[in-house]
Amino acid sequence: MPQIKTAGARAEKAKTNSHGKSGVQYQSGFGNEFSSEAVEGVLPRGQNSPQKVAHGLYTEQLSGTAFTAPRGTNRRTWLYRIRPSVAHKPFEPMRQGKLRSAPFDEVPTPPNQLRWKPIPIPPATEPTDFVDGLITMAGNGNTHTHAGVGIHIYVANASMTDRFFYNADGEMLIVPQQGRLLLRTEMGILEAAPGEIAVIQRGIRFRVELPDKQARGYICENYGALFRLPDLGPIGANGLANPRHFLAPVAAFEDREGDCRIVAKFQGRLWSAAIDHSPLNVVAWHGNYVPYKYDLANFNCINTVSFDHPDPSIYTVLTSPLEIPGTANVDFVIFPPRWMVSEHTFRPPWFHRNFMNEFMGLIHGEYDAKAEGFVPGGASLHNCMAGHGPDTETFERASNAELKPVYLGDTLAFMFETRFVCQPTKFAMESSELDHQYFECWQGLRKKFKT
Ligand SMILES: [Fe+2]
Repeated sequence: MPQIKTAGARAEKAKTNSHGKSGVQYQSGFGNEFSSEAVEGVLPRGQNSPQKVAHGLYTEQLSGTAFTAPRGTNRRTWLYRIRPSVAHKPFEPMRQGKLRSAPFDEVPTPPNQLRWKPIPIPPATEPTDFVDGLITMAGNGNTHTHAGVGIHIYVANASMTDRFFYNADGEMLIVPQQGRLLLRTEMGILEAAPGEIAVIQRGIRFRVELPDKQARGYICENYGALFRLPDLGPIGANGLANPRHFLAPVAAFEDREGDCRIVAKFQGRLWSAAIDHSPLNVVAWHGNYVPYKYDLANFNCINTVSFDHPDPSIYTVLTSPLEIPGTANVDFVIFPPRWMVSEHTFRPPWFHRNFMNEFMGLIHGEYDAKAEGFVPGGASLHNCMAGHGPDTETFERASNAELKPVYLGDTLAFMFETRFVCQPTKFAMESSELDHQYFECWQGLRKKFKT
């Protein structure tokens, strides 16, 4: 069994989630200069790379941005570990499964509205860990040039024990929809339950355990600039996702040897290497390149208190900006529980066609633009200039609803909104989960015009 040691001088107790007290410890803040040591006195004082590190540890820097990135966006972490991460055998190609990567050119991308039913979790007779269970639905951009995203769904029924993963192509924003994930990373442990998100940045090694035996969720693999909090403009200094609600791990290491494997995603392909020890062997660390989690229930939702339906950008949790101001590589946007109070207004989302491209998922409940067909665990894709909006039933209901204050309580939808067209994979277009009847939800929108 792995030896797990956890400590953290500035740790704070994890927020209790709907699945009970996790017991995992965290440090709070977004992009902070964190520090943590699982063995007291290991972290060097006054310098980063002493000639000898306490307890015979190796020093290693992990850079998440160019050395010369501006201070506000520069990310790196110093690791003090039992063996350096170079200590493994050569990588060899391994089977891809249903994982795909940019360029996404397997099949033509139709201009149609697309929707998928939930992808089933494999039966117990087919043990599937987090890596095996990665299924790519769509994506865009180019891993070589660090632009675009890969959009995946994961379905898993087995914990990773001697297998570890890292992604050199992008950071992974993980959105659990069913079952908790225990993410054991180089910097420590994160637990992410449905209703929470976790972000594991480019290069960080981790393995995934399934406390609930099964898990399903969504992943935005962000090839571009690291996710950050959006600017707030006239909203002011507070609101939306507040930095203090983001939780980073405290140092926790595995001091164990054995026949282990590291799986790397590099330039769109999976590679596997033998390693004779756990790479989660960081005893202490300090820096600001650190995985994190966030409970979406902490999102400070801002909306109209007068009239009209605002643009969904008010729901942005995290953004990966491009060089073009205000035009994101990808935004992570949520539609959380909230009051609807607008007067003389059609309250659900209006009919629209957009420049940006929208991949949506539903974590629980019902999305207010769709009366049926968009179910938890499912997904939809509305690409550039594809008309979409409320289905016929929602349009009729909302056009005639009494406009008293209404609390939308049982809902948590999200959107990966990206500047680049999301090109579906062959699997996504040929899957039995593809809803070929999706278009019919708008066919009942009859002519009402009268002169
Ligand atoms: Fe939309």
